[in-house]
Parts: sequence; structure tokens; C-alpha cells
Amino acid sequence: MNQSKRIAQLLNKPVSLSQKFNEQTKAKKNNFGNQPPKQWPKSWKTVQYKAYARFPEINLPTPAKTFALQNVLKQRQSSRQFGLKPISKTKLSQLLHYGAGLINPQNNEKRAYPSAGGRYPLEIYLLSLKTELPTGLYHYYIRNHSLEQLPMVEDLKIKDAFEENWVSRASLLIIITAVFKRTTIKYGDRGYRYILMESGHLGQNLYLVGQSLNLGCCAIGGFVDNQINQWLDLDGNQESAIYVLALGEQP
Ligand SMILES: Cc1cc2nc3c(=O)[nH]c(=O)nc-3n(C[C@H](O)[C@H](O)[C@H](O)COP(=O)(O)O)c2cc1C
Repeated sequence: MNQSKRIAQLLNKPVSLSQKFNEQTKAKKNNFGNQPPKQWPKSWKTVQYKAYARFPEINLPTPAKTFALQNVLKQRQSSRQFGLKPISKTKLSQLLHYGAGLINPQNNEKRAYPSAGGRYPLEIYLLSLKTELPTGLYHYYIRNHSLEQLPMVEDLKIKDAFEENWVSRASLLIIITAVFKRTTIKYGDRGYRYILMESGHLGQNLYLVGQSLNLGCCAIGGFVDNQINQWLDLDGNQESAIYVLALGEQP
């Protein structure tokens, strides 16, 4: 009998989905797909980039600022109150570049957060509510450090996707989505764990860079997945929203 079944039996409870998932995605020795890199298929090595070539592209200003990590680590906290000042394009540029962008000109795949197998399954979308950009939905096109303006959903209501009222006072929602296959093609179902771990790394980057720019930030796990997927025209299966961060100028 496997461990989760034994625990469930002891507690006199059915095995939960999370216990099943945890059990069934445990790595076994020699079951990692850990062939030498020379034997990896092309699909494990090719990094994929999503682009919306038919939509208007907005170039972001060149990010310049550097910041002291020690200070921002000490100051980091979740903020749910935001000022009225719109977030500038310069700040958006820095946030996206240092948080999620291609930061190393010598290696055009490397980012400021780690990725299992360098598969980079995460995409970034913005819902701009109070920034120097027009209100609306955007996709971060990482290769050009630009934003692609997506069609705005008619009658988009924040409260349809979030229960907590404070979310509607944020200036910016950053929606992290995952294109699952980019990672699961190599790691199978265990790859789902890696994708969530990776989004935590990216989320922490956004918190810290946000703090360095005096932007308040709060992670949101409680969102209506399919409502956000509908805003972004995602099928919720191949690609789905997995994490949201709300940001705004500190009050
Ligand atoms: C995965 C995750 C999901 C979270 N979801 C929410 C949320 O839905 N609503 C909220 O107000 N805060 C949310 N938070 C923020 C936590 O409440 C917050 O990090 C925690 O209270 C610790 O406070 P601190 O971030 O100021 O240190 C989330 C944090 C994480 C890491």
C-alpha cells in the first residue's frame, strides 16, 4: 500500500487529490530523464517564446536602475493598499526586465529566475488599470522587451475573478500563466510541480524589484482561473493562469 493510502487509512479519510498527485509524481531513482544532454531530444532543448504578431507592440524604455538587494529583502512585505499615482512606463520596464526579462545579453535565453531544465514555461500578461499605458490587457514579449496590446474584454469586472475587494484598487495585475507542455514534455506530470516552483521564484523577483521601485505588491492565489483565462483567450488546458500579483504605487 502506498504512503498516502496508509495515511488516509490511519486518519479514516479518503485520499485527497493533492495526496494522490504528490504520491504519483514522486521521482524515483533513475527515473528523471537524466540522460546526458547530448542525447536530449530537440523538444527538451528548444526554448519557446509566445508572440502576438498581429497586435500593436509597445516598446518599453531601456531599464537602467540598479538596487541594493539587502534593503529590499528587509522591506519586502505584502501591500494591499495602493496610492493614486499611476505606475510609470519606466517602472514597468524595470519591473519586467529585472523580474522576468532576458537579463544577460551574452546568453539570450537566461532570465533572472531559475527554470527546471531551462524550459521556461511561464508567460506574463498585464492588466493595466492605472499605469501610463492605456487601461487594458497586454502580453510581455520577452524577446523585444515590449508589450503586445491584446483586445480589451468588454465589460471586464475585477470582482468576477477576485473575491477580495482590495484587488480592484491595484494599479496593475500581473498574471503569470504556464504553457505546461514546455516542461511536461521533459518531466511528465512531475513537471507540474516544477512549474509552480518556478512561478514562486518569478513572483519573489517581482516582489523584490517592485519594492526597489517603491511599488507595493501582493501575491494572489485566490482567483477564478477560468475567468482570467477567458479574459486572456486561453484554453485553460494547454495554457492557464497559475498566479497573480497585484501592484501599485505605495500610498
Ligand atoms: C502562493 C501565495 C498566495 C497568496 N494568496 C493571497 C491572496 O489570495 N490574497 C491575499 O490577500 N494575500 C495572498 N498572499 C499573500 C500572503 O497573505 C502574505 O504573503 C502573508 O500573509 C505573509 O505576509 P508578507 O508577504 O507581508 O510577509 C499569498 C501569498 C502566496 C505566497
